[in-house]
Amino acid sequence: MKTNLYSSIIEKISSDKFSSIFILVDENTEQFCLKLFIKKTGIKSFNKIIIDSGEENKNIDTCVSIWDQLNSFKADRKSLLINLGGGVLTDIGGFAASTYLRGIKFINIPTTLLGMVDAAHGGKTGIDFKLLKNQIGVFNDPLEVLLDNDYLKTLSKEEFINGYAEVVKHSLLTDKPDLTFNSLVKLDLFNDSEYIINSYSLVKNEIVKSDKYESSIRKVLNLGHTIGHAVESYSHISDEIIDLKHGQAIVIGIINELYISHKKFNFPLRDVVSVKKHLKKYFTLIPLKENDMENIYDLMVYDKKNEGSKINFVLLKEIGKPVIDQIVDKELFKESFVFYNE
Ligand SMILES: NC(=O)c1ccc[n+]([C@@H]2O[C@H](COP(=O)([O-])OP(=O)(O)OC[C@H]3O[C@@H](n4cnc5c(N)ncnc54)[C@H](O)[C@@H]3O)[C@@H](O)[C@H]2O)c1
Repeated sequence: MKTNLYSSIIEKISSDKFSSIFILVDENTEQFCLKLFIKKTGIKSFNKIIIDSGEENKNIDTCVSIWDQLNSFKADRKSLLINLGGGVLTDIGGFAASTYLRGIKFINIPTTLLGMVDAAHGGKTGIDFKLLKNQIGVFNDPLEVLLDNDYLKTLSKEEFINGYAEVVKHSLLTDKPDLTFNSLVKLDLFNDSEYIINSYSLVKNEIVKSDKYESSIRKVLNLGHTIGHAVESYSHISDEIIDLKHGQAIVIGIINELYISHKKFNFPLRDVVSVKKHLKKYFTLIPLKENDMENIYDLMVYDKKNEGSKINFVLLKEIGKPVIDQIVDKELFKESFVFYNE
């Protein structure tokens, strides 16, 4: 089945459609993924662009360094950028490509679980700005997204698990019986990873297909992210809690937003409890104090998904039945953290 995985990319890079090929890597994907990519594609002629890994580098300075390197290799509008890496790399690589010379084509080859099930798909590209996540960016689809879980073999267990938060999110948004949360819990994250990647990336792609620019239904993908993004940003500026990875922060967002769903829409408490219990199998839930909550709330007010001073949430009536644009008052927000901390 894997034999033909690369045929479309091989055809593209060996055609004369592109004047030059660039491969964007960070120091880890250069070490662990580039050789495999070269072996699988047989690509001989390309320029390599290296950036530093990590969310702290998903910023304008890194973007400038990508543009600089494209310039120095004389990239033109017919150049192709191949993004080989996790969500940070495909987000910034997609943004750099979309803005360089008003847009060159790019291909995403995700190398983390999170990238494979989520970040590499859907055409959201961007960088963080002034502590706010993904504040600057554009919607632009990659030419192709290639999913090859051979890259996951070198990923640390922690990074692997990090991507599972988005898998759980997708399982809460779908109403397909064989993919809902109750089916997901019967799978083994490590042994069933290929099935998980293919199935749960489809959940996202189907949602995106019907609303590319997030004017309505695509907003459901923000489940867990209204609180989660604020928690993630807060963890990077606070001395009170450790720096959290995207997935760790989204887990906190999911638990809290499901509790709020229970309070506002009668989402079954037993489901909130079983999602929390399941997530605890993989993630450590760090305690959050009163002062943390206040700071997270303030950060949320500035999040881009909010209109005016209103904070819009995605909530669930039941598994597979999300509702968008919900306003939540501060008291309920704080109450959800009491449940989270229990
Ligand atoms: N665009 C979207 O729709 C979307 C959706 C969800 C998340 N995101 C973004 O994704 C980012 C998080 O992505 P991530 O969790 O993949 O993190 P990441 O890109 O930082 O990768 C995690 C770490 O793993 C390393 N790595 C990657 N592949 C490897 C491999 N195969 N072997 C060894 N090491 C490897 C990286 O160098 C990095 O150190 C966040 O910035 C988030 O905002 C975007």
